[in-house]
Amino acid sequence: MTDGRPSRGVLITLEGPDGSGKTAHAEHLRAAIAATGREAVLVREPGGTPAGERIRAILMDRDESSVRLTQRADALLFMAARAQLVERVVRPALERGAVVVSDRYLDSTLAYQGFGGRLGVEELLPVGRFATGGLRPDLTVLFDVPVEVGLARKTAAETTRFEAHFDRAYHERVRAGYLALAAADPDRWIVVDATAPEADVLEAARAAVLGFLAGGTRRA
Ligand code: TMP
Repeated sequence: MTDGRPSRGVLITLEGPDGSGKTAHAEHLRAAIAATGREAVLVREPGGTPAGERIRAILMDRDESSVRLTQRADALLFMAARAQLVERVVRPALERGAVVVSDRYLDSTLAYQGFGGRLGVEELLPVGRFATGGLRPDLTVLFDVPVEVGLARKTAAETTRFEAHFDRAYHERVRAGYLALAAADPDRWIVVDATAPEADVLEAARAAVLGFLAGGTRRA
C-alpha cells in the first residue's frame, strides 16, 4: 500500500457546489462502470454507514438552535463520518478490486469548511489525512456550476442549513475553492461544465470516468 491506497481498486470522487446536479449522475456513473464488468460501489458523504447517517442527521439539522455546532466541531463531524465510511466500506471494497464512486469526499471539507468557512486548507489537510488514513482519490470529477444557478436548482424541501444559513459570499468561496483545488492538481481532477444540458453533463462525466478506467486520457 502506498499513499494509503490498497493497490487493486479505484476511488473516484464526485464534487461540486450545492445544486451542481452531481448526485443525479452518481448512480448512472456507477451503472456505467458496472457495465464494463467491474464491481462498482456507490457511497455518499456524509453518511454511507449507520454511524455516518446519524452524524449526517446532526450535520443537516435545519434547527440550528438545538445543535449550534462550532465550525471546528462541524468539520470534525464530517471527518468522523468519513473515517467510518473509509474504514468500513471504501477500503474493503478497494481491497476486493472494486471501483468506488463517492458522492463527496475530503475535498468537500476543504472547499466548504476550508474555503467557505475560512478554516483553511493547511489546517484541515492533516486532519483529513488522519481521517482517511491517507486514502486519496484516483480521479475527482468536479461538477462546476455558478452559485446563482446552483442555488436556484434547490427546491425549498431540499434546502438544508447549508443553503439557508450561509450567504452568497460563502458559496462563492466554495466554488472558487473547488476551482483552485482542481487547478492545483490537474492530474487528478477533471472539471465538467454542469450548466450544460443534463444528458451532456452525464456524458462528459461518463466519458472521463470510463476513459480513466480504460487507461486512456481524461476528457473535461
Ligand atoms: P449533498 O448536497 O451532496 O448531500 O451535501 C450535503 C451538504 O453538506 C452540502 O451542502 C455540502 C456539505 N458538506 C460540507 O460542508 N462538508 C463536507 O465535508 C461534506 C461531505 C459535505
